[in-house]
Amino acid sequence: MSTDPTEAARTAAGSAAPAGSAARTAGSAACTATGRTGRTGRTAAGRARDTGTVRTGADRKRIHLAAHFPGVNSTTVWADPRSRSQIAFSSFEHLARTAERGKFDFFFLAEGLRLREHKGLIHDLDVVGRPESLTVLSALAAVTGRLGLAATVNATFNEPYELARRLATLDHLSGGRAAWNVVTSSDAFTGENFRRGGYLDRADRYTRAAEFVATARELWDSWTDPGPGSPYGTPRRFAHSGPQFEIEGEFTVPRSPQGHPVVIQAGDSEEGREFAASAADIVFSRHGTLEAGRAFYTDIKARLAAYGRKPADLKIMPGVTFVLGDSDAEAQERAAGIRRQQVSPQNAILALEQVWGRDLSAYDPDGPLPAIDPDPDSRLVQGRVRVADPAAVAAGWRALSEAKGLSIRQTVIETTARQSFIGTPETVAAALDTFVQTDAADGFILIPHLTPGGLDDFVDQVVPLLQERGVFRTEYEGGTLRSHLGLPEPVRKG
Ligand SMILES: Cc1cc2nc3c(=O)[nH]c(=O)nc-3n(C[C@H](O)[C@H](O)[C@H](O)COP(=O)(O)O)c2cc1C
Repeated sequence: MSTDPTEAARTAAGSAAPAGSAARTAGSAACTATGRTGRTGRTAAGRARDTGTVRTGADRKRIHLAAHFPGVNSTTVWADPRSRSQIAFSSFEHLARTAERGKFDFFFLAEGLRLREHKGLIHDLDVVGRPESLTVLSALAAVTGRLGLAATVNATFNEPYELARRLATLDHLSGGRAAWNVVTSSDAFTGENFRRGGYLDRADRYTRAAEFVATARELWDSWTDPGPGSPYGTPRRFAHSGPQFEIEGEFTVPRSPQGHPVVIQAGDSEEGREFAASAADIVFSRHGTLEAGRAFYTDIKARLAAYGRKPADLKIMPGVTFVLGDSDAEAQERAAGIRRQQVSPQNAILALEQVWGRDLSAYDPDGPLPAIDPDPDSRLVQGRVRVADPAAVAAGWRALSEAKGLSIRQTVIETTARQSFIGTPETVAAALDTFVQTDAADGFILIPHLTPGGLDDFVDQVVPLLQERGVFRTEYEGGTLRSHLGLPEPVRKG
């Protein structure tokens, strides 16, 4: 299945919570809170107590926030007159500066290594290209001072020595703010762009990723710390010998401010979860609803002990959207309008074709789902918008459409939404807090629907309320991303 946060929004219909119900869950939790106790959130905590662990008072967790650059996401509303370029530096700069103004932990860039295709044409969202993340983040390092800078970079098609250098360099340039979202890719189509080529089975991809990260850590550890007479430390010879990589020499970059850039993981399979528990500092998850979030949180945190790690050593941050309004009703109405723009009639058919793997352009978006079954061997869709199990997804869509009497477009609107926090700033702040205090998340990767101004209102209106609640920083306390996240120093090996 496609797993880009945005593509997931479009294609992970089988597992995603219906838009309406997700919105209602978040909204109702928070409405209760603000309705009774204003901004203190005591009622939100009380409500959450009914369903799980909840922290109150000094015990409360601090929320971590990240900004996902929207760009090619299917959540982005390009029809909005305020939409701007997804490649101009000014767009990246605007979102990054806004996130830093809001004291966010980090700025996040997804990665696409091949332009996706639909019916032999470049996918609509990719027609303006996909820039390279580490280059963009290096430029952003110059216009930000505290914000973490996270790049999604593939472990299947890169080499540890080269990538470890680039990440360590970004960590130096930014004064300790670099993060690496380790993805593995899931399709041979992308592989055709690379010498390694083709496709690795999931287990092999994660075997390679685990040794890749371990090797990068050996390289980052290979320089001694600075000391008298050696202001940058001293390079020591490294030699890595393993099934995936056989390399030796000297690393070119002195030990960077964080020692090891922060490692993020985003795959969701059994192998992906185990890899996260063994190696990641953060999991970027798609399990955003209260119930799914708690189940995922419990699962991942329980895996840590086997690796000698504590629950606080790994942060779970689902990708979520949000819509604000002057009243909860107005926000709900606005959210419904945004969903209609995201899933236009044309996009509804596109989403349908992604699941069915067939040309369904003759179907009426306001009519019923096709009676015909998906084509299991279809090559209609290429790249990370492919659906792994079309029959199962189609069955889920059909069941929902029949149960609720939904058209094609309505079904796509319901099934492809990710968790969304909808309401007044008070409602949204209370709901975010509830999710974190009841262990459905440690924080959130926020995906705005406008490029690049989509975070402005959140920073101006919601962040101050989180600060008032005492669950979000009012100033950065440290200089590095690791310090924002409260992560332990990496243990140097060798
Ligand atoms: C929330 C989320 C975001 C992801 N973002 C990207 C991305 O930006 N680029 C990419 O190539 N893969 C991305 N992936 C794909 C995964 O890293 C992984 O390659 C894919 O999910 C297959 O692994 P799995 O079988 O463990 O899920 C993302 C996955 C998830 C769950």
